[in-house]
Amino acid sequence: MGVFDRRVAIVTGSAQGLGMAVATRMHAEGARVMMCDLQADKVAAAAVRLDPAGANVKSFALDASASGAATAMVAAAESAFGGVDILVNVAGGSGVQRAVHIDEMTDDIWDRIIANNLRSTFVCSRAAVPAMRKRGGGTIVNFATGSIRGFRGRTTSAAPLAYVAAKAGIIGFTNQLAADCQDDKIGVAVIQPGFILTEPGARIRELFDQMSKAEQDAMLRGRTPRPPEDIGWAVSYIASRPWNEVTATAIRLDGPIKSLALQMARDPEGQLASTAVLSAV
Ligand SMILES: NC(=O)c1ccc[n+]([C@@H]2O[C@H](COP(=O)([O-])OP(=O)(O)OC[C@H]3O[C@@H](n4cnc5c(N)ncnc54)[C@H](O)[C@@H]3O)[C@@H](O)[C@H]2O)c1
Repeated sequence: MGVFDRRVAIVTGSAQGLGMAVATRMHAEGARVMMCDLQADKVAAAAVRLDPAGANVKSFALDASASGAATAMVAAAESAFGGVDILVNVAGGSGVQRAVHIDEMTDDIWDRIIANNLRSTFVCSRAAVPAMRKRGGGTIVNFATGSIRGFRGRTTSAAPLAYVAAKAGIIGFTNQLAADCQDDKIGVAVIQPGFILTEPGARIRELFDQMSKAEQDAMLRGRTPRPPEDIGWAVSYIASRPWNEVTATAIRLDGPIKSLALQMARDPEGQLASTAVLSAV
């Protein structure tokens, strides 16, 4: 018996990188998982790798920023697994088209990054909330960044301005949706990963490998990149807690994690958690 036996999780952006690590962890803990991504072949192959029989892991190809596709994704999870309990909005990133200064930021790059990150989080959550209501509650975990105050110096982010703006929006979105969904018993939290070196072939690893040794050393100074598995553990921990224990939390994950302990600070009303850290203990 796993922590998530009989529970159903949708993980967007799970063809590779952190989304794949999240889907892998949820599956290992007993969840039935719908892996979703723009990259149709890659997400289908990832699902088959996890569960060759296909009974507990299925894939769904979509642009997660498209409303109709998000609705169809939730319907597919309900039809395959009987409902939806957990939505993990991992899809996003800053793409590969470089725009390091505002002068280089085209409307197209800006719109795409906002859509892939912020809009996808909105439309997938909007599609999933009614499904979670039918189950009596649920958990939504969103993905922002530890660099919410802005990057300094060399970064793997191809277009930091749009990216940080989108991720800041996701933090605000999380807080408001958490407040709005209290009566529905739906917890909404946001993870702020630090620098995570994903697997060879994934975007962040490719961008890092293209840097000079001096640039890599500068990026690594003072920090140890966390493995993607840590993010899988963190999401699994959040989704395993009662909805009202983790709701409205922003969880920074940029330090070493030896075991997971959620330390929460309640806001003055005592209703919603305002900050939390997963700490090394
Ligand atoms: N890796 C890091 O260091 C790091 C740090 C902070 C935040 N993050 C965030 O964590 C998430 C995952 O990061 P990653 O390193 O695994 O990125 P990645 O680029 O390797 O993977 C992102 C996945 O999302 C998919 N995707 C993007 N837009 C989509 C859309 N509109 N519809 C469906 N799928 C879409 C991509 O196809 C890809 O498979 C992203 O939101 C990223 O911004 C990552």
